[in-house]
Amino acid sequence: MHYRLLSEQEKKSYREKFRRFWESVDQDFIPPLSKRDRNITARVKEYERANIIVAEDGADLIGVVTFWEYRSKLKSPYIDLIAVQRSFRGRGIGKKLVKKAIKFLEGKGIKKIKISTNSANKKAQKLHSSLGFKAYRIKKNAKGKGIHKIYMVRLQAGSNA
Ligand SMILES: CC(C)(COP(=O)(O)OP(=O)(O)OC[C@H]1O[C@@H](n2cnc3c(N)ncnc32)[C@H](O)[C@@H]1OP(=O)(O)O)[C@@H](O)C(=O)NCCC(=O)NCCS
Repeated sequence: MHYRLLSEQEKKSYREKFRRFWESVDQDFIPPLSKRDRNITARVKEYERANIIVAEDGADLIGVVTFWEYRSKLKSPYIDLIAVQRSFRGRGIGKKLVKKAIKFLEGKGIKKIKISTNSANKKAQKLHSSLGFKAYRIKKNAKGKGIHKIYMVRLQAGSNA
């Protein structure tokens, strides 16, 4: 598996690949990405302003993490979407992608990184906790009845930020 940060130019040339990738994992998100306030096409366009690290097997896009260096929605730099193709899950690819995003942000001097998930996604909760993210806020029923949004934050070791 090959991991790399896409250049500005590559982000544009990957538009179609990304659209197909997010569609293939759409139903794994709660609610599905296509049912959210901005659809997949809008999302693909938005992520051209974010950082994107991909995991690739030859020309095949296997995993993606998108993340932001500046504060916006989560009021800190944050990791936005993360997904791995179904048949490649459970092999450490998702964890490696998030680790690489953390390393990139810390390399920019960023000490505090946020991420969010939901109470139904035990896998993502485990993944994030294993990398040092801790829940700091839970928004009840934000993702549907009985499905809570979990906000998590990670402080760089030794940082009081
Ligand atoms: C969440 C997701 C990205 C994880 O990717 P992955 O490549 O399968 O994850 P990894 O193999 O790197 O596993 C990372 C950690 O997740 C946990 N995990 C992985 N598979 C798991 C499983 N079947 N059951 C429970 N925990 C699991 C483990 O803690 C694992 O760490 P460990 O191997 O050190 O124990 C992937 O399942 C996915 O694309 N899901 C759909 C989209 C999604 O839910 N995105 C996250 C939204 S916040």
